[in-house]
Amino acid sequence: MRKAILICLILGISCKESKNYLNTSQKNTNVSVASLNIERRVDSLLKLMTLEEKIGQMNQYNGFWDATGPIPKSDNQAALKYEHLKNGLVGSMLNVKGVKQVKALQKIAVEETRLGIPLIFGFDVIHGYKTIGPIPLAEAASWDLEAIKKAAQNAAEETAASGINWTFAPMVDISRDARWGRVMEGAGEDPYLGSKIGVARVNGFQGDDLASPKTIAACAKHFAAYGYAEAGRDYNTADIGTSTLYNVVFPPFKAVTEAGVRTFMNAFNLLNDVPATGNEFLQRDVLKNEWNFNGFVVSDWGSIAEMIPHGYAKDIKHAAELAANAGSDMDMESSAYVMELANLVKEGKVEEKLIDDAVKRILRVKFELGLFDDPYRYCNEENEKVVIGKNEFHEDALDMAKKSIVLLKNENNLLPLKKEHQKIAVIGALANDKTSPLGSWRLAGDDGTAVSVVEGLQQYKGNILTYAKGADVVSPDSKVTFVNELKINETDTSGFPEAIKVAKASDVVVMVLGEHGYQSGEARSRANIDLPGVQQELLEAIYKVNKNIVLVLTNGRPLAITWADKHIPAIVEAWQLGVQSGNAIAQVLYGDYNPSGKLPMTFPRSVGQIPIYYNYKNTGRPYGENSDVVFWSHYSDESNQPLYPFGYGLSYTTFSYKNLEIKTLAGREVKVSVDVTNTGTIKGKEVSQLYIQDKFASIARPVKELKGFEMVVLEPNETKTIEFILTEKELGFYTNKGAFVVESGVFNVFVGGSSNTTLSSEFTLE
Ligand code: BGC
Repeated sequence: MRKAILICLILGISCKESKNYLNTSQKNTNVSVASLNIERRVDSLLKLMTLEEKIGQMNQYNGFWDATGPIPKSDNQAALKYEHLKNGLVGSMLNVKGVKQVKALQKIAVEETRLGIPLIFGFDVIHGYKTIGPIPLAEAASWDLEAIKKAAQNAAEETAASGINWTFAPMVDISRDARWGRVMEGAGEDPYLGSKIGVARVNGFQGDDLASPKTIAACAKHFAAYGYAEAGRDYNTADIGTSTLYNVVFPPFKAVTEAGVRTFMNAFNLLNDVPATGNEFLQRDVLKNEWNFNGFVVSDWGSIAEMIPHGYAKDIKHAAELAANAGSDMDMESSAYVMELANLVKEGKVEEKLIDDAVKRILRVKFELGLFDDPYRYCNEENEKVVIGKNEFHEDALDMAKKSIVLLKNENNLLPLKKEHQKIAVIGALANDKTSPLGSWRLAGDDGTAVSVVEGLQQYKGNILTYAKGADVVSPDSKVTFVNELKINETDTSGFPEAIKVAKASDVVVMVLGEHGYQSGEARSRANIDLPGVQQELLEAIYKVNKNIVLVLTNGRPLAITWADKHIPAIVEAWQLGVQSGNAIAQVLYGDYNPSGKLPMTFPRSVGQIPIYYNYKNTGRPYGENSDVVFWSHYSDESNQPLYPFGYGLSYTTFSYKNLEIKTLAGREVKVSVDVTNTGTIKGKEVSQLYIQDKFASIARPVKELKGFEMVVLEPNETKTIEFILTEKELGFYTNKGAFVVESGVFNVFVGGSSNTTLSSEFTLE
């Protein structure tokens, strides 16, 4: 810092001016005054910066060398990055973890560069940092906003304790394509649920005070339409119309902007033939102007350079020009800005005022994080030891995991399992897997740290448990890492005989089947979404000898398990539930936790139905089920119905809905009430859902749209009346010009425990 002041003196800049950005005495609890002070400090710092230093702030590098040791001279890349860092040409680093590493790099930025501007450290904390929780899609199945917020809050505390101050989460991409591997990272197919969950996550990560050492900046990604990758193939083109963009893709992004998310990430995909990264409409017109977003936008990894293969930029310099002009503020790992931007400004191809705008946004967030007041505020090694992996995080991860489980089928009350005198066979490689439950975004997590299903079940001592693998999911000669393609076991059935023997000798068989942890996530698209490898064969072989099967699915996306649905009496969707996985599954199987999860994404009957989602629009020929005349919208070899619809999930008890009443209120508000009764024999929790249908409008509206949900806990025979208020916000929609309108007319209202509920009534909005 002293060095910075000295430089100011040499440059003839007043010390008063320089002190402004360092001054910590301006801290004020009054938010508006505090942010005013931040604006002043940003401005005074910006005035001191050379063009190169400004561009440096817009440059983000991956940290891949050991920052506590000497810089690897033989590694040209690392040496160059280190040189840039020392010269103030780096504003942020990603994938640096642990206080020691963060501190070492921060020290270079703060103590060796001319102005001492601290780095902001980003990391993919997608579902926990070290204490890995359920994958986001699983969390979404809980519909429990408080629990989801708490999970993000814990993740933030643990992340911050390791020196990191920014997560690349939440991913709020809506997707209707189960082939896309990244559905595991979002909240599913619905914009209303996706918005609520996105906001809960942002509030959890960022808290009320970004400068607290327990909170971190969040990042809404990937702006926009990344979840609409054609054919579900990751990174692929998205081609969608205005209505889908405004009514489906944008809402969660807009909601998190209103909730104060501090950063955005753009996306790899083309959106209607323009790369999201070079898309001025998205980043400037919509995000920064229409929505008044004043944080910053980071590119996705190398996405600036990827505009060249897209056929949109002719070379890296052109790519830098397009991205900067379009409003992409920080360059993640393309080195395009640091190499090209200064020349582009000198040549008049990028205006310096755009650079200033980008830098102000980045500095603003750094100030808000308190990094200028204490660049090492996240760097306390003692605290790191105490906080990482705290018991409390594990307790909350268990709670979240139980809430995420969805009971898909339960014939003859096969579940819950009896606690005594049972011979139970546990079959499937995933039953004994302590890593797959951690999912694919577990960058700081440790392999082998999940409680397996076998371990979870072993805690119930009253039964005799026998485990048989049956078959591996992944071939033993496969590389199993975050970056390598997996080889699935398509042939080895040598474990079948043993599994069949064990199943034959048992009262009940618990089969844990599904996807390996690295079969979903980034770049993990699948063209078939069945049980991978020989698992279907295994299931059928076991079914031949014992029909009392409880199928526990662990997977990162909806699976097409139509055969299982037809034959297997009990099916439990257990996703990838993180470190507490086995404990949560065992408690649900034994009935110590009554499942209440509801699907956040439709399960198709077959992959050919994709995209399949509950809030579709009617064709002109919607009817004809059971008809032998072909001229209606359907498949000749498959039903139009999903296997399990959005919002669906059973409980060990049952619920009924009655007395649906609608009252129109003043101010174009509508009150909907309904009585929910627990009609079963045990206490249970129900997620009551409200859907509307705008029956006739200036553009066609979906057959159903989720517009409210309430969680209700009921004792047997207990009834509660629940109420929903619909306002113009829920009743309106965006036109094909992107304008929000609320049109009068008749609306259907549906209430129930799933999107396929038929209890309905209607009202007229004047
Ligand atoms: C992903 C982003 C992620 C980034 C940094 C990219 O490949 O698309 O979601 O945040 O890498 O790891």
